[in-house]
Amino acid sequence: MTETGYPELDALRPRLAAIATLDNDGLEAEHTAVLGRKAGILTGASKQIPTLPPAERRGYGAAVNQLKVAFEAAFAARRAALAEEARRARAAQVDRTMPARRRWIGGYHPVTAVIDEISDIFRGLGFAIAVGPEVESEWYNFHALNFPPDHPAMDLHDTLYVDAPPVPGERGGRQLMRTHTSPVQIRELLAHAPPIRAIMPGMVYRNDPFDPSHAPAFQQIEGLAVDEGISFVDLKATLAHFVQRFFGAGTEIRFRPSYFPFTEPSAEVDVECQLCHGSGCPACKGTGWMEILGSGMVHPAVLENCGLDAERYTGFAFGMGPARIAMLRYGVTDIRHLYEGDMRFLAHLAS
Ligand code: DAH
Repeated sequence: MTETGYPELDALRPRLAAIATLDNDGLEAEHTAVLGRKAGILTGASKQIPTLPPAERRGYGAAVNQLKVAFEAAFAARRAALAEEARRARAAQVDRTMPARRRWIGGYHPVTAVIDEISDIFRGLGFAIAVGPEVESEWYNFHALNFPPDHPAMDLHDTLYVDAPPVPGERGGRQLMRTHTSPVQIRELLAHAPPIRAIMPGMVYRNDPFDPSHAPAFQQIEGLAVDEGISFVDLKATLAHFVQRFFGAGTEIRFRPSYFPFTEPSAEVDVECQLCHGSGCPACKGTGWMEILGSGMVHPAVLENCGLDAERYTGFAFGMGPARIAMLRYGVTDIRHLYEGDMRFLAHLAS
């Protein structure tokens, strides 16, 4: 800006140039000193204009206005520059090399993960996935599965009965919370003609206390294969394949004779203890083995209860508790840890 010829205005020019060096406080003070409404130098100069001789008013007024515009621009530029400096200073305090906090966005429950893994292995063998209702009648849960009418499992002591009317069109008896997934076998046998190969996961309920080895509600996975010519060899080969896939190639397995009303013969399957690998530890009570499932050849009475010719068809079935299997795999000694919903515990297993 050129000299105005008015000494009091020209005296402001160094101050105009110095604005670019002021800090926040200095800037506000200078703004008040130059443009302040009450005592600002240029505000005062503006007020002078009407008192001047007419010939001088125009030139002086123009000079004052030009200075005002220049000061306003300089203040605005300095404010913006200071704000930008402050932003940079704040950003410089952030340590960009610090690892980001990991946000917990959820995951699969360990029992769900085990169910998915087991289902996948059997899907690979051509098994379909099937489900049935959790409220069943005595016929599906017990009678069709060849439980004798006085079997102790049907006692109120073990089974949770439901005060509900029978489902129209379904075979009956009292309604109950299914005590196992085996009734889904019956539903599959009634719904499809052989060949049948199905995996049936689901929740089951028992009138049991919640203690280290029992839960009143827990999952099971049922398996069923029915066709012409199925033998115990198919059962053994299928379950041996499953164990090698799930627990690892070379895992020792053994079949122990057992009893279930719906299979004949019946066998329980043990795998080598996953903790001590057979040498014996507290978890396997020194035996080196852990039981993972029950199985057997489908009892002819079960096939006949579902309208199948037991001379023509045979099959095998098995049932396992994925929570128990998760416990074996992860060395969990109390089933309540899996079913009580403690997120810290479950997240630790899932990771
Ligand atoms: N339903 C049995 C239970 O809850 C488990 C079971 C055993 C299922 C043998 C089967 C089987 O299909 O063949 O204890």
